[in-house]
Amino acid sequence: EKGGYDHFMMKEIYEQPNVIKDTYRGRLHANEGLIKMAGIEDNIDKFINAQRILIVACGTSWHAGLVAEYIFEEFARIPVEVEYASEFRYRNPIIGDKDVLIAISQSGETADTLAAIKLAKEKGAFVFGVCNVVGSSISRETHAGAYTHAGPEIGVASTKAFTTQITVLTMIALRLAKAKGTLSISDYHRYLSELETIPEKVSEALHTNDSAKAIATVFKDATNFLYLGRGYNFPVALEGALKLKEISYIHAEGYPAAEMKHGPIALIDEQMPVVVIAPKQGHYDKVVSNIQEIKSRSGKIIAVVTKGDEQVRALADHVIEIPETSDAMSPLLTTIPLQLLSYHIAVMRGCNVDQPRNLAKSVTVE
Ligand code: M6R
Repeated sequence: EKGGYDHFMMKEIYEQPNVIKDTYRGRLHANEGLIKMAGIEDNIDKFINAQRILIVACGTSWHAGLVAEYIFEEFARIPVEVEYASEFRYRNPIIGDKDVLIAISQSGETADTLAAIKLAKEKGAFVFGVCNVVGSSISRETHAGAYTHAGPEIGVASTKAFTTQITVLTMIALRLAKAKGTLSISDYHRYLSELETIPEKVSEALHTNDSAKAIATVFKDATNFLYLGRGYNFPVALEGALKLKEISYIHAEGYPAAEMKHGPIALIDEQMPVVVIAPKQGHYDKVVSNIQEIKSRSGKIIAVVTKGDEQVRALADHVIEIPETSDAMSPLLTTIPLQLLSYHIAVMRGCNVDQPRNLAKSVTVE
């Protein structure tokens, strides 16, 4: 049932190239320049006329929401706010019939997310679900939606749900960009073709498994980790830290790299591993200077870089290379080595990777 892998988590990490393909199959038609998603087509006016999109979710799904915020605003120029469902539901939120609420949930059963949906509906918003589990409570409670088609996710630590959620949300953003004319025709086509190459690049990113494992042996006894990223990769830093916390019980924090100097830099010494997401596309030069700041304080740098990178390699203690892609699609690749790193550290520490202590796969109570 684990397909030859020791744990469901590893199986699910390795399923990502295929499930991302399953997610866009029949929807993404790069040659024709089309994205076809029934839930969007049927409600396209609601999205185009939305004065704002609100995204609610919890945990990893909330991180996917944060990536989507950057993508929607960049591609479709619609203002987006992302909120923890648990906060949204209890703060008398300002939301009405000009707003679209997108609820993201792998299980479709998360109590806080479900409650946020009910509240948004009462206030007249159009509610769209991005769920993995077909027929789940959230998929039934929403006005429309799009499934992620990741297949069953058994490991408590979410992996393939995250990348397929980002895939669905990227397709929605591209469809809206087309309708609104907010991307140039050439960029639109370029992104469609790029998305089509992602499964292959994820397969290549999975080749980082050996380096992730080697790095894990060096840092498995660390008591703290910092994860830094900027732009589209800021949420990936949060997700990398969450993955490490929940399965290895090592304290980890994710930060937007530039926030470091506003506090967390005080934590850096020769004992502190800092995972920096530094792909070539994106705020590369800025991230390089953040890396220099860590180095001058003797922090141990583990950098995720684009294949062929030399500048960061010269500064970092360890590098993990991933294939090149556009800035907006890089989270789909940068996430992979971070999943693998947490996995190996957790296994080396003897943790129960698939069923970490105190955690449930679906959080059906608030
Ligand atoms: O099923 P959901 O996507 O609504 O679940 C949300 C969170 O409970 C979930 O992502 C949790 O944070 C995972 N254990 C993260 O790996």
